[in-house]
Amino acid sequence: NIKPKSTLVIFGATGDLAKRKLYPSIFNLFKGNKLSEEFAVVGLGRRPWSNETLRDTVKQSLGQNEDDGLIERFCEHFYYMPFDVQEKNSYHELNVLLNELDTKHHIPGNRIFYMAMAPEFFGTIATNLKSEGLTETNGWTRLIIEKPFGHDLPSAQQLNREIREAFSEDEIYRIDHYLGKEMVQNIEVIRFGNAIFEHLWSNRYIENIQITSSETLGVEDRGGYYEKSGALRDMVQNHMLQMVSLLAMDPPLRLTPEEIRSEKIKVLRALRPIPNEKVSDYFVRAQYGPGEIDGNEVAGYRSESNVDPESYTETYVAGKLVIDSHRWAGVPFYIRTGKRLRVKSTEVVIQFKDLPMNLYLNKEEKVHPNLLIIHIQPDEGISLVLNGKKMGMSGGSVPVQLDYCNDCVNTGNTPEAYERLIYDCMLGDATNFAHWDEVDLSWTYIDMISKAWESRDIDIHTYESGSMGPKAADELLERDGNHWWSINHINK
Ligand code: BG6
Repeated sequence: NIKPKSTLVIFGATGDLAKRKLYPSIFNLFKGNKLSEEFAVVGLGRRPWSNETLRDTVKQSLGQNEDDGLIERFCEHFYYMPFDVQEKNSYHELNVLLNELDTKHHIPGNRIFYMAMAPEFFGTIATNLKSEGLTETNGWTRLIIEKPFGHDLPSAQQLNREIREAFSEDEIYRIDHYLGKEMVQNIEVIRFGNAIFEHLWSNRYIENIQITSSETLGVEDRGGYYEKSGALRDMVQNHMLQMVSLLAMDPPLRLTPEEIRSEKIKVLRALRPIPNEKVSDYFVRAQYGPGEIDGNEVAGYRSESNVDPESYTETYVAGKLVIDSHRWAGVPFYIRTGKRLRVKSTEVVIQFKDLPMNLYLNKEEKVHPNLLIIHIQPDEGISLVLNGKKMGMSGGSVPVQLDYCNDCVNTGNTPEAYERLIYDCMLGDATNFAHWDEVDLSWTYIDMISKAWESRDIDIHTYESGSMGPKAADELLERDGNHWWSINHINK
């Protein structure tokens, strides 16, 4: 149990992310004995808060059931400074405070700068941190940067140039919170820790792979951001492509960040480009109309606040990705993600190829294909769909499902994604963060799709809120003789 000693400087300490995710995660690390007493958190924001206001906010973010004494001890490590990111003087004052805290909390100059605020300031902050000497300490300095990392390749390159002026690539930790999820991390172990799967993990035995990430929520109060982003940039460029890479990569030589990353990058490089006029054959975009979620009526996307009533922004994407590699030639990777769908769920289905001959059913019936299902959330686990004998004397086969529930077996508190990622950064482990090369390649792929869409507004479909998306997404698979496996399909 290594206990890192460092100061975490949060730009955007009064914001939503800090309250919802960061404070509870740091608290869990403290409570779980992962942090030494030698740490400090400095919150920065425009509001004229005091240390006390920040500490009260932190307390409120922790929920009701925590031990008061522990919370008090925890909050003593929190400091607040009103901060103007464009004002050099703010950086001088911050430097003075950080040096004082190093002495007070016995921290050897280690600093993490966490950018949890509007992305337009990321570059300015990085430049000022460097020019005002905050990146020169006796210890290490690291930068955690939240998404969105640009909105296309040129803007991502520009942002990268700016932050690289102040931090080297191995000091930059680009957050993709899906990489902190227990079952996303488990993909690698399921694949490379099991002979029965790894030997079958190729186009010889796999028919297709499907990744679904569906949400019931709409855009809520993020209309302004979402209008410029849409589901393609918001979910596919990062989370979905990261999952594709983990599912398709070759085994790394060793479990080092460099080796793993280099295998993931090869997958992104092998994604087959789609000619502009063919994009609609591979990608479907759609927007939610009104409908019902859990028995409540909800409005359509175009009626949400801060959304253009004639908006063409997609809230749903389904796509077929082709990976031109020896292992995957001929195996489609289908992805779909959307807001205001029937369920909140992220799931991967690996569909194995059919047997060469059906011995157990009538000729017109098909033996159920074997499926390996990785349940990422909300349930965490694995299911395997096999065929067994139909009960009784009539003969034939029926599909049976073996379920392993990860969160039932590991009843201890499974750490939240942010908890792991902050801790990894403190330890200097960049395995579960996005490297620039991954960001670069994923934007190249995404730009190709968004450019085609921008020139063809007509291609957007509508789906009813509370459904599982537009018909066009079903047709995408039907053209290949496939279909989406629905969540918990065997019980429905
Ligand atoms: C974020 C997106 O990155 O991921 C949100 O910006 C989305 O729009 C969220 O709701 C989904 O994350 P999770 O962990 O709830 O699946």
